[in-house]
Amino acid sequence: MDSVLDFHALRALLEWQMELGADEAIGDTPVNRYEVQAKPPEAAPALPMEAPGQREEGGAVAAARKAAGAACDLDALRAALGRYEHCELKRGARNLVFSDGVPGARVMIIGEAPGREEDRAGKPFVGQAGQFLDRMLAAIGLSRDRNVYITNVVPWRPPQNADPTREEIDMMRPFLERHVALAAPELLIVMGNISCQAVLDTRGITKLRGQWHEAWGRPVMPMFHPAYLLRAPSAKRETWADLLEVQARLRESA
Ligand code: URA
Repeated sequence: MDSVLDFHALRALLEWQMELGADEAIGDTPVNRYEVQAKPPEAAPALPMEAPGQREEGGAVAAARKAAGAACDLDALRAALGRYEHCELKRGARNLVFSDGVPGARVMIIGEAPGREEDRAGKPFVGQAGQFLDRMLAAIGLSRDRNVYITNVVPWRPPQNADPTREEIDMMRPFLERHVALAAPELLIVMGNISCQAVLDTRGITKLRGQWHEAWGRPVMPMFHPAYLLRAPSAKRETWADLLEVQARLRESA
């Protein structure tokens, strides 16, 4: 009888956790990540005298700018992100997802945020969308093994794969800008609305895609996100045109 009760109690507990958004079993012993990492940030700059709502955002962005600006190479930037304590997403993530591919490549791709597979692997675009991205790149002779560098706007997985908030995007932007400067690609491909928001400060991928824009002194091509293309295959046609545009630009300047 006890074991029957245990079964029902355990099942109810599991269902409750799933309703709260738990979508994978990570270990037998629960870890309270807020407790583990609740150290006060080291050397956080003085917060500006602003309204309480603005205070943390201002301080977080200023701290990001300071930390990113002090990084003189990609390893230092990765380490600076590892020390940055203002972004709540870090608490729930398993790994920092910094980059993949070839630093210094002519093409740098900026995705949105890691999903479950990326969080586990500590690398961007390794799940289904990533495999599709690899096929898109291969179609124009590009590959992360040879000539593409990849990162995301946000280096930690948002819970339940939610879109990063404006505040999270704003605090990650200084790191992203520095990442681009240090990787020094010839051009950027930004995938999806979150990336457009972070790099171009605007959204509306349907209108933005297919046209060259400029950010941080480099040409930027917005494209549909590969995860969207998996859901809406009819948009692949436009993406193929965008990929050819990138290929043409690379050939022109080779
Ligand atoms: N989607 C993204 O935008 N980035 C990843 O790394 C994975 C999925």
